[in-house]
Amino acid sequence: MTEERYWADAVPETHRPYVAAEDRYQHLEYRRVGDSGLLLPPISLGLWWNFGDDRPFATQREILRHAFDRGVTHFDLANNYGPPYGSAEENFGRMMRTDFKPYRDELVLSSKAGWDMWPGPYGKLGSRKYLLSSLEASLERMSVDYVDIFYSHRTDPGTPVAETIGALDTAVRQGKALYVGISSYSPERTAEAVAVAKDLGTPLVIHQPSYSMVNRWIEEGGGAGPGAAGGKSLLTVLDEHGMGSIGFTPLAQGLLTSKYLGDEPAKRSGERGSFTDDVVTPDMVERLRGLNEVAEGRGQSLAQLAISWVLRPGGVTSALIGASSTEQLDENLAAAAQTDFSDEELARIDELAGTVEGVNIWDVSSDL
Ligand SMILES: NC(=O)c1ccc[n+]([C@@H]2O[C@H](COP(=O)([O-])OP(=O)(O)OC[C@H]3O[C@@H](n4cnc5c(N)ncnc54)[C@H](OP(=O)(O)O)[C@@H]3O)[C@@H](O)[C@H]2O)c1
Repeated sequence: MTEERYWADAVPETHRPYVAAEDRYQHLEYRRVGDSGLLLPPISLGLWWNFGDDRPFATQREILRHAFDRGVTHFDLANNYGPPYGSAEENFGRMMRTDFKPYRDELVLSSKAGWDMWPGPYGKLGSRKYLLSSLEASLERMSVDYVDIFYSHRTDPGTPVAETIGALDTAVRQGKALYVGISSYSPERTAEAVAVAKDLGTPLVIHQPSYSMVNRWIEEGGGAGPGAAGGKSLLTVLDEHGMGSIGFTPLAQGLLTSKYLGDEPAKRSGERGSFTDDVVTPDMVERLRGLNEVAEGRGQSLAQLAISWVLRPGGVTSALIGASSTEQLDENLAAAAQTDFSDEELARIDELAGTVEGVNIWDVSSDL
């Protein structure tokens, strides 16, 4: 073999830096978060499961690159996403240092603290001590100087709301968060948090509640008491204060997908300790099949119906989904194009769905 021929053959496949798709802003219509200047995609991607150390890094990277290529500009994280806790931020940080480095200004990244993270009295709930040290650690793991949104992840019955919101305010003044949010706060506590934020001038612009066809607590009044929210629903309180909302688990962790329509046991991508099969009763499967018929009537899959429904007029600003493959992501993203419903469709969905026991495991926070 001549020297010339040897070089012609020896061109191995090499790693190339990621270059985002040029048409990435052609797919989705961005939505305003309340009265703020912040826009979010109708569908945002969360890294709670599917991005821990139990999943191949190559798959995680493929999903995140694909999401950004399709216009998903918002990735939602928290200190304890994984498993193990912290690993989703760590894995995301690796992608941030490489793939997403040139695109930091095009991304809305969020993190949170509130649920358990490290042992002892300073590793959970809503103290200033926990929130600010956790944010510092999240920034380090994610390899960023700031997050776009930092959340109080849950209510803390022992810490004054003023202290928790004060800690979020400090994060903004330190330049470590641009906006702040609260997650799984009742209408009453949300109104209290808004009052503190208004006093301090804190950009508290978003609430992150659980919401799906089978988990509708944000539409319900929070009791008729004379408290800060005066018995109003969370959606009403948010609307009155110009706040936006990003509804998490619109697929009820996979329940509202084709996974449970067949007679065979559902195939899940891996560990998801927060979902128990107790909710998948024979009656539930019949309801899911009925909802699937509504979906088919609209030319949609059940997952698409579920996502379109939370995005319907009067619903949430953005649907915060999870996905274990690019195929799931593509199926789900198509839901953003079909968010209008007829009265008949809505009535049929109400008949078949409605609040299902055991789905909203975050009421331990929002009932406080
Ligand atoms: N603030 C909070 O307290 C809080 C709490 C929970 C979640 N969140 C946020 O919300 C995000 C989403 O949560 P989630 O993952 O539970 O949401 P989800 O969208 O309700 O469920 C996602 C799961 O459903 C399955 N799935 C998704 N699309 C599918 C499709 N087209 N066909 C079949 N199955 C499909 C996948 O299961 P497999 O993996 O088994 O394939 C996927 O992991 C989290 O990552 C996090 O950012 C926030």
